Amino acid sequence: MADPVDLHVADLHPAVDDPALNSMNFLNEVAQHYPDAVSLAAGRPYEEFFDVAALHRHLERFRRHLADDLGQSPAQVRRTLLQYGRTKGIVHHLVARNLAVDEGMTVDPEAIVVTVGCQEAMFLVLRALRADPRDVLLAVAPTYVGLTGAARLLDLPVRPVRGGPAGIDLADLREQVRLARAAGLRPRACYVMPDFANPSGTSIGLADRRRLLDLAAEEDLLLLEDNPYGLFPASDAGRPPTLKALDTARRVVYLGSFAKTVLPGARVGYVVADQRVAGADGTVGLLADQLAKIKSMVTVNTSAIAQAVVGGALLEHGCSLAAATVRERAAYGRNLRHLVDGLARRFPAGTSPVRWNVPAGGFFVVVSVPFGVDDALLHRSAREYGLLWTPMAHFYDDGAPVDALRLSVSAVTPDQIDLGLDRLAALVADEMARRAATADVG
Ligand SMILES: Cc1ncc(COP(=O)(O)O)c(C=O)c1O
Repeated sequence: MADPVDLHVADLHPAVDDPALNSMNFLNEVAQHYPDAVSLAAGRPYEEFFDVAALHRHLERFRRHLADDLGQSPAQVRRTLLQYGRTKGIVHHLVARNLAVDEGMTVDPEAIVVTVGCQEAMFLVLRALRADPRDVLLAVAPTYVGLTGAARLLDLPVRPVRGGPAGIDLADLREQVRLARAAGLRPRACYVMPDFANPSGTSIGLADRRRLLDLAAEEDLLLLEDNPYGLFPASDAGRPPTLKALDTARRVVYLGSFAKTVLPGARVGYVVADQRVAGADGTVGLLADQLAKIKSMVTVNTSAIAQAVVGGALLEHGCSLAAATVRERAAYGRNLRHLVDGLARRFPAGTSPVRWNVPAGGFFVVVSVPFGVDDALLHRSAREYGLLWTPMAHFYDDGAPVDALRLSVSAVTPDQIDLGLDRLAALVADEMARRAATADVG
């Protein structure tokens, strides 16, 4: 006899059965099921750049920093590295230096909370902002699924704002704020990824960044700026300053990740939350301190050992991750150009209905095809063509079919890109023929 069940999903938080929370598991399972398929799905860093020996070097570099630069005694060093630690983190001063060096941002280290990946940073901010059942989050669509999933766990509805080729449709943002308020809702913030967004690959230009900040001030809206890919422009043209660097009115909460620039296994990210928060007793503190209270009940503190590894990596390069990732930037840029050129060769303009965008950097390209792209097609692509990609429908919250897929260039070589694109071309040709045949019969 089968074991009786003890609990029903229906009795758990509804988020556990939500597509947003199942998305990553589903994609991982497909990938595990077809280990030999070429993966243009994974947005992971290129593993050949990982170096186990660097861990020891970074730890030792950070230990010396504690002793020599901060004057800690051996007992203090031991405590800093091995004991429960400061909730807001122990590499906050190095993160602030990094933001100054790489982004031209002046940030008070006290306004930084070092988190367990950017994912925890998003969770803390959303937890803090969601204060009332009328609260909603606006997010540029398509949206990173980790953001949507975190919002679900917090019972915070996400309302989409049109992204479009310019990265954000500002008129639609204004309209969505108006519609939400007219419905009695409180839009607490808008989530944006101005640099080489995941999944769209789009970036927001300088003029629109300024307009977005103006709009946020006019509408009294916070902006959540997520920037894991900003250090990977595909050319020397660079990119505009971050929203946070342009922010003179503390409108922007900045979310950072070391997953793509140092190593994902460390699980270290951070949030810059310099907003001033008035307490009931009239005292004024930083939003970062409120986030730290939440963090103390979620992860207590970010692993000191993981922070030390990241801290050592920062110190080794004068706190410049741009300097630390020269090799990565070159490889990802080369791959992105290779992918876009390869698409153009296989799907010639004029004869092919397949379209794609040409991002200025980052890991991702969106390819539009003349047929629906769903999980069943992904399975078929993996099984019959040996190719993995991500259905764009996973990045929209409404479950509607989307005729597009996301390709990622971060975890592959140019040869694998060629192989993957050959397989994609075969899949697209067969799918179009199949649909044409069905239409004829119909
Ligand atoms: C846009 C975006 N935000 C956040 C994250 C999560 O970062 P972390 O690994 O630091 O939690 C990712 C990871 O892929 C991402 O693409």
